[in-house]
Order: sequence, then structure tokens, then C-alpha cells
Amino acid sequence: MYSSRIFASIGAVTVAALAINVLSAVKVYVLPSKLKRYAHVSADGKHPWALVTGASDGIGRAFAEELALRGFNVVLHGRNQTKLDVVKSELQEKHPETFFRTLVADASKVQCVNCLQGGENESHHPLDFNAIKDALQDLHLTVLINNAGGGARDPVYLSLSDSSEERITDNVTVNALFPLHLIRVLLPHLAQNSPALIMNISSLADAGLPLLASYSASKQFLMTLTRTIDLEIAFSGKAEIECLGVRVGNVTGVSHNRQSPSFFTPSANTMARAALDRAGRGHGVITGHWAHALQQAMMDFMPTFLARIVILNTIRERKEAELKSS
Ligand SMILES: NC(=O)c1ccc[n+]([C@@H]2O[C@H](COP(=O)([O-])OP(=O)(O)OC[C@H]3O[C@@H](n4cnc5c(N)ncnc54)[C@H](OP(=O)(O)O)[C@@H]3O)[C@@H](O)[C@H]2O)c1
Ligand SMILES: *[C@@H]1O[C@H](CO)[C@@H](O)[C@H](O)[C@H]1NC(C)=O
Ligand SMILES: *[C@@H]1O[C@H](CO)[C@@H](O)[C@H](O)[C@H]1NC(C)=O
Ligand SMILES: *[C@@H]1O[C@H](CO)[C@@H](O)[C@H](O)[C@H]1NC(C)=O
Ligand SMILES: *[C@@H]1O[C@H](CO)[C@@H](O)[C@H](O)[C@H]1NC(C)=O
Ligand SMILES: *[C@@H]1O[C@H](CO)[C@@H](O)[C@H](O)[C@H]1NC(C)=O
Repeated sequence: MYSSRIFASIGAVTVAALAINVLSAVKVYVLPSKLKRYAHVSADGKHPWALVTGASDGIGRAFAEELALRGFNVVLHGRNQTKLDVVKSELQEKHPETFFRTLVADASKVQCVNCLQGGENESHHPLDFNAIKDALQDLHLTVLINNAGGGARDPVYLSLSDSSEERITDNVTVNALFPLHLIRVLLPHLAQNSPALIMNISSLADAGLPLLASYSASKQFLMTLTRTIDLEIAFSGKAEIECLGVRVGNVTGVSHNRQSPSFFTPSANTMARAALDRAGRGHGVITGHWAHALQQAMMDFMPTFLARIVILNTIRERKEAELKSS
């Protein structure tokens, strides 16, 4: 009698806790966007600008388009001037009232201190982040989206010990070091124009996936930095800059997947819209699209040993599929 009442109470508390968790998770995806708070005009009448890295393709390109629709002028960053010019003229045609600019910088060319002793500095041509900063100085920049990146290719799945030093260094540089230095030089500018938004695009793979070591780890680096910079800004107490880390699952309309979208695989445009809709509410690090959040929730709900088996089997299947198709 007594014990059944205890069990009933435990049950009720568990159900209530679960309901609260589900409701607060759902809330993230139904509340309207607050991105508008970053689309403000400066004191001297300048219109807001957003910088999107990796805007020549995929999700970055979709971000540029969506930001134009929401009242921002957009700096399109990429490594290939020709490709960027094509994207710029396509966007300009669709959005004649928006200003677009291009910014070319190869994100894998971050200055590497040790390379200087290697005798390879002739071909290295390191990036000059101060020059990037100066090139943007005249703009009323209020949004920075660190999107450039992606996993290694040919092959995608490779064990750490089979990966060359170049492959690993290149991927960590693009996914982690480049955004780190970009934010270092742009933070004062964004602070001046606050309220401002910094968004970092990560992956569900940041949880750690086998055969994707440098990608998973560099994405987690990014998410830890997101939390850290958020605290550093709060610590300085000077400016209002939101730091939002957005985790992304499988997406179509990107360089390695041009298939049509499906339930768990939204289009790049849907993904960009979803990510921007999460802005303005101080979420910290979140999964941008509800379908990816559902996928993640299913993994989180599983006991650890089962989640391990699922991860190992999934990656094994993908590796086999990759081997077959090559
Ligand atoms: N697609 C997915 O399923 C998925 C899943 C999880 C996370 N993400 C993340 O979403 C972001 C965008 O990926 P995406 O799928 O849209 O990829 P994408 O279609 O391949 O586009 C990547 C963009 O980044 C640029 N980029 C790549 N390396 C660069 C470098 N070294 N220097 C300068 N720019 C460089 C590309 O330029 P080019 O046009 O010159 O190649 C392109 O504009 C990435 O951070 C990725 O990790 C994607
Ligand atoms: C740059 O983009 C153009 C247009 O998409 C493409 O034809 C060219 O091969 C690219 N260059 C490099 C170095 O990838
Ligand atoms: C590296 O570059 C510096 C300056 O650009 C030059 O003085 C030096 O000789 C170069 N070293 C090698 C090994 O090429
Ligand atoms: C990752 O490394 C591979 C191999 O060096 C390269 O082909 C790919 O473009 C790299 N991707 C990124 C985003 O650095
Ligand atoms: C984004 O990543 C950079 C570099 O890793 C980091 O310095 C910054 O704190 C991150 N900010 C956000 C909002 O994600
Ligand atoms: C992503 O979606 C495509 C279909 O659009 C599918 O072929 C592919 O296997 C999926 N990749 C992952 C990593 O789930």
C-alpha cells in the first residue's frame, strides 16, 4: 500500500519531468524568430551586413539567400573567386535591393608557426586576418556565420592512423582554426555594432564518430569555443553579442549531396531558415532543425551500449557503401 504510493509518486514525477523536457525541446522549434534584433540600422544610418563563410555552395549559399530575404546585405566568403562571382550575380538578380560583396580567402591557409622551419613557406602564402578585418571595416557588420568547412573527401571515412598529416591538418584548420582567428579579428567590430550575432555551424558528428576523427573533433572544438566566447563576452560585460552554435545533421543541396530532400534530410535552404529561426534567444548550442533534434533525441534515449552498436553499424555500412561506389 505504502510502497505503491511511493512508486506512483516516482512515476508521476518522472512523467512530469519528461513532459517538461519534451515541452522545452519543442518550444525551441515553434517560437518565432528573433533574428530581426540584429537587422538594425547604425547610428549614422548604415544598413546591416552579414558575413557568411563558405557561401559559394550548400548551406552557406542558402544562408546568404535567407539573410537577404530578412533585410541584411551579405558578404559572400569562399576560396574560389569565379564560383563566388556566379553565386553573387545569381543572388543579385533575385534580390536587386540587397548589396552583396565577395571575400576570397582559402580557410586552409592559416599561418602555421612550425611550417616556417620546414622550408615550404614559398607555397604556403598564409592568410592575413588583419587584411580581412580591414576589408570589412567600412560595413555595419552585425552577423557572422562561420559555416565554411566540411569533412574530408575521397574517402570520407578513414581511420586516424590511415589519414595523412596533410588531410588531418587541413581539415582541422578549415573547421576549427579559421573560424577561431576570424572571430578574433572581427569581435571588436561586432561588439561596436552590437547587438550582434555569431553563429557557428557544427555537426551531429561532434559527438564523436569513428573514421571521422579530425572532423568530429574539430566540430567539438568549435562548440566549446562557442560556449567559451559567450562567457568571455559576458565576462567583459561590454557588448551584447549572441553566440549560437548550430548542430546540423544530413542535408541535401550541398556539394556532396544533390538528391531531393526527405524527412531526416532537409534541403540546405530549409536548414538555413531553421538555423536563423533559432537566433535571438540565447540558446547557446542547439540542434538547428527539429528532424535532426529528433534523431539526436532517439540516440540520447538509447542506453550507451546500444547507441555504440548503432554508431558502429551505421559507419560500417557507410564505409562499405563508399568502397562499393568508388
Ligand atoms: N551537408 C551536410 O549534411 C552537413 C552535415 C553536418 C554539418 N554540415 C556543416 O555545414 C557546413 C556547410 O557544409 P555544406 O554541406 O553546405 O558543404 P558544401 O556544399 O561543400 O559547401 C561548403 C562551403 O565551404 C567552402 N569551403 C570549403 N573549404 C574551404 C576552404 N578551404 N576555404 C574557403 N572556403 C571553403 C566551400 O567552397 P567551395 O565552393 O569553393 O568548395 C563552400 O562554399 C559545414 O561546416 C559542414 O561541416 C553539413
Ligand atoms: C572555381 O569555380 C569554377 C566555377 O564553378 C570552376 O569551374 C573551377 O574549376 C573552380 N576552380 C577551382 C580551383 O576549384
Ligand atoms: C621563408 O620565407 C622567408 C621570408 O619570406 C625567407 O626569408 C626564407 O628564406 C624562406 N625560407 C625558405 C626555407 O624558403
Ligand atoms: C579535408 O581533407 C581532404 C584531404 O586532404 C580534402 O580533400 C578536403 O577538401 C578537406 N576538407 C576540408 C573542409 O578541409
Ligand atoms: C565560433 O567559433 C570560433 C572559432 O572556433 C570561436 O572563437 C567562437 O567562440 C565561436 N562562436 C560561436 C558563436 O559559435
Ligand atoms: C544523407 O541523405 C542521403 C539522401 O539524401 C543519403 O543517400 C545518405 O546516405 C545520407 N547520409 C548520411 C550520412 O546519413
